[in-house]
Amino acid sequence: MDIASIRFAEEIVVATVIAYEALTQTRIPHEVKGGTRWDTSFMQPPKGTRLPQAFLVENTPHRHLRTHFHDVDQFQVITSGGGTLGKHAVQPCTVHFSRALTPYGPITANEQGIAWMTLRARRDGEGAQFIPEQREKLEQAVGRNPWQISELAEFMEPAGDACLNPLPGIRDERGLAAYALRMKPNTTTALPDPSGTGGQYLVALRGSLEHEGKTRRALAIGYIAPDEPCLSIKAGAEGLDALVLHFPRYDAPIAVASARSDKCYKTWRCVLCAFVYDETKGMPEEGIAPGTHWSDVPDTWNCPDCAASKTDFQMEEI
Ligand SMILES: [Fe+2]
Repeated sequence: MDIASIRFAEEIVVATVIAYEALTQTRIPHEVKGGTRWDTSFMQPPKGTRLPQAFLVENTPHRHLRTHFHDVDQFQVITSGGGTLGKHAVQPCTVHFSRALTPYGPITANEQGIAWMTLRARRDGEGAQFIPEQREKLEQAVGRNPWQISELAEFMEPAGDACLNPLPGIRDERGLAAYALRMKPNTTTALPDPSGTGGQYLVALRGSLEHEGKTRRALAIGYIAPDEPCLSIKAGAEGLDALVLHFPRYDAPIAVASARSDKCYKTWRCVLCAFVYDETKGMPEEGIAPGTHWSDVPDTWNCPDCAASKTDFQMEEI
């Protein structure tokens, strides 16, 4: 079966693949602090529903977006430009995953600006919730297990028709996964099985795919629900580079990171976003040598993922 379905309200929409060039409404401008943001909605379910949501955000150069969080799990894929997310450099094909209630940022655009696709398996009812204003909500949340990761997708040249290359860090026991898929021109391949996930996205970043007799050029997305069969796709005449993103299931238990047993060195966890500073590893990329105890980390240091201050870290129980 060569069809992806999107369930909006009670209706099953045979959505197929949604391409930017086929959208009727694109680049809705919003004047924001420090510049302009343009929003392009690919999938916008009705308010109050918990259905998949996907949109493109384009930002003017040097825009600075403060640290914030959302109520739902989220993938973000950088599509053009670049900059930093927290202290991490991001560029086209960087994939960022954040669990619900995990603050990330700030996001700062470079001189080219920055654009990203935001993808959610469930609509976010609240929108961006900023730190420090919404900090108390995080502190009072029950069962929160914050975690995030950024990884650059690597598209490998296929030996056969297609190469599906996993992003090794983006993985958990609830079915979270991400793959970089490169397909040769005019070849057909089946995507991984969506069952056992919380929803699967296809994000075409370069080239095109043929779908329902039409050519869908990048940028294009598809959503495949967990109870649907594997989607079979055909690359267009230029071939295809696409991401396959698996959301984690919502009903599966979340593993808690195991405690360390090293007596001399400790780990310190950001209470906001769960980033862990490990004294044995230090942070050489920031000039903090392996073996640097927390007390010797400068007071001006802040969290690489969410910019929280050193006082926002707690020692992990051993
Ligand atoms: Fe943090």
